[in-house]
Order: sequence, then C-alpha cells, then structure tokens
Amino acid sequence: MSDFKRIYLASPHMSGREQKYIKKAFDDNWIAPLGENVDEFEREIANYVGSKGALALSSGTAAIHLALILLNVGKDDIVFCSSLTFIASANPILYQGAIPVFIDSEPGTWNMSPTALKEALDTYAAKNKLPKALVVVNLYGQSADYNKIKDICDSYNVPIIEDAAESLGASYQGVKTGTFGKFGTFSFNGNKIITTSGGGMLVSDDTELIEKARFYSTQARDKAIHYQHSEIGYNYRLSNVLAGIGRGQLEVLDKRIHKKREIFEKYVEHLKRISCIQFMPEAQDCMSTRWLTVMTIDPELTDKKPYDLIHYLQQYNIETRPVWKPLHMQPLFIENDFFKHNEMDISQFLFNHGICLPSGTNMSEEDQGFVIDRIRAFFC
Ligand SMILES: Cc1ncc(COP(=O)(O)O)c(C=O)c1O
Repeated sequence: MSDFKRIYLASPHMSGREQKYIKKAFDDNWIAPLGENVDEFEREIANYVGSKGALALSSGTAAIHLALILLNVGKDDIVFCSSLTFIASANPILYQGAIPVFIDSEPGTWNMSPTALKEALDTYAAKNKLPKALVVVNLYGQSADYNKIKDICDSYNVPIIEDAAESLGASYQGVKTGTFGKFGTFSFNGNKIITTSGGGMLVSDDTELIEKARFYSTQARDKAIHYQHSEIGYNYRLSNVLAGIGRGQLEVLDKRIHKKREIFEKYVEHLKRISCIQFMPEAQDCMSTRWLTVMTIDPELTDKKPYDLIHYLQQYNIETRPVWKPLHMQPLFIENDFFKHNEMDISQFLFNHGICLPSGTNMSEEDQGFVIDRIRAFFC
C-alpha cells in the first residue's frame, strides 16, 4: 500500500447525465440488444464529427476490423499502417490474414510521415503489390497531415481508414478527425476522452457501406423470417445501456477537450524551464484535444531516461506510461516491412525518449501540482 493517493494516467470521468439515459433504457426495458440510445448515439456522433453515417460497436478494434472487411481486405493482401500506435490498429489486419507494412512518424505531428508513405507506395507499386488499404492513426489527440496523405493515396487510389480512437473532437483545418478517409473509427474504452466503459464507432459518408457494416456486426443475418446466413458475421454491436453512457458523455466532450488542453498548458507553463523536456508539438492547422500530455526527454541534454522518471513517479503512486512501442519493433511483426521517415527512425526515437503524463480531466489542481513538483524534483 502506498502512502500516496493514486494519480491515474486517465480515468473515466462521468458527466452525471449518463444515468438519465441508462434509466430510460431500464424504464423501456430496452436493455438489449439495441434501442433508442444506440440509434441516438449514432446520430449524435455523426452530427458531431460531420459524417453521413455511424455505427455503434463493441470496440474501436471491431470498427477497424469491419472497415477492412468492407474494403475487401483478405488473405495475403498488403495493408499499410502507422507504426507508432497501439497494437489494436494492426491486429484486425491479421484477423483478415493480410500483411501489415508499417510507416514511420514525422516529427511535426508524430503521426504518419507522408515522405515515408510516398516511398512505401512507390516501392510496392513497383512490385505490383499496392496495398488494399491504409490505416492512419491520429496519435494522442492530434490529427495526421491529411492534405499530404490523401494526395499521395489518391494518386495510387488507395482507400484510407482513419483510426481516430485517440482523437475524437480534434480537428484538422477546421474539420473534425474521423472524416478524412473512406472510414473513420473511434474508441470509447475506459481511458479515452469519453467512454462507454467499452465501445467504438465506425463512421463514413458512404451510408450504404455503413448499412453493410451493420449487417456484418449482427451475425450477417440474411433477410428471412428464419435464421439464415450466407456470409461470415460478427457479434460487434454496442448495447443500449452502454450507448446511454455514451450519450451522457458526448454532452460534455467539448468541456473535456477544453480541460485536457488546460492540463497540457499547465504542464508546459511549469516545466518549460527544464531545458531537456520537449512537449508533443501541435501541428499547424491542427486543434489537438491533448488527450494525453506527452513529452520527450532530450538525450543530448541529460542522461536521465523516461524509464527512470516512470519508476521515480511510481514511488509517489503517479501513473505514467512510455510512448507506444512502435509496431515494427514488436516481436509479432519482426518480419514485416517498415519505411522510415528519413535516415532516422522517428517512431523509435519517440518510443525511446517519450513519456505520457497523467492527463485525466477529473485530476484535481492539487494533484497536477503534485505531479509537476515531483517531475521538477526529479530533474533538479
Ligand atoms: C490508436 C488506437 N487504435 C485502436 C484502439 C482500440 O480501441 P478499443 O480498445 O476500443 O478496441 C485504441 C485504444 O484502445 C487506440 O488507442
């Protein structure tokens, strides 16, 4: 048992309105499987991000999986994917028996490098093995550079799946993330900016494909009174109770973004004099939600490493995490191809030197002040 109160990286933060929607589900006895909360949550998310269609699912991973299925990704197909991300961006590629090829980050956004993407596409085009799809991740609340990425993909006719699990509410040139590709996917797991405890959403302007995804997500049941199935289906829908949590959460999303950005500003304000610390940049024309405040420790200026800081803060019961370990460095993907930004492997650098700080919107001023004091004590 620690003498210190636990300070989490990011924990669920309820608005207080969730139970109103849950109660309605109980009152109507629409506990399962679908119902008004699911329909409304889909409509509200589509409205919020500006997409024509939305499908509420059991997870963000399920949303990526269905997007790949709808793009006809199958055995031995190539799918390009950001390397600096959580494994869930790439696992569904494996579910389909396809082969992921990983693309490095760029320093300006920490997201997919357009330079590396161009090189990868040129290389695979020359081999006559163009990818069936590209999974682009918006890391830690920040959009990738879609103008460049879309131009490159359009020139090869490669569809984009935007993994916006970490960037709900962020924008790029005034447009909400999740809407730049053929499909966008969101996650509502416990540490996300809004949560349904577990859940996800698939969005697209192609409402026919959203309807097709709806069919696959409910066991691909053919139109017949009896149970009849001609294709493989999945049990991927969100329950009406959990969608109720989502509706209550969505009402406060903009408030949460504002708070996340305040938390980030406070870290910067109090730590900027420590010269070896650099914070994740906010790219031009991007409005990051700062889902997590992430910083790097400059190895040219100090011998102190992120793991030293993680262990030091652990003694004070403060939860921090390294930056995602790039997928091209994972044992699972050791055989897979990887394209670097330039002579430097940017995602590996960010993994080696980055650390995610407590960023929960329910963290008190005192708690954040305590984290800041401990970080200063570590460096001074
Ligand atoms: C970048 C990224 N993609 C996908 C996912 C998967 O979402 P879920 O946990 O809802 O399946 C997550 C979060 O868990 C994520 O951070």
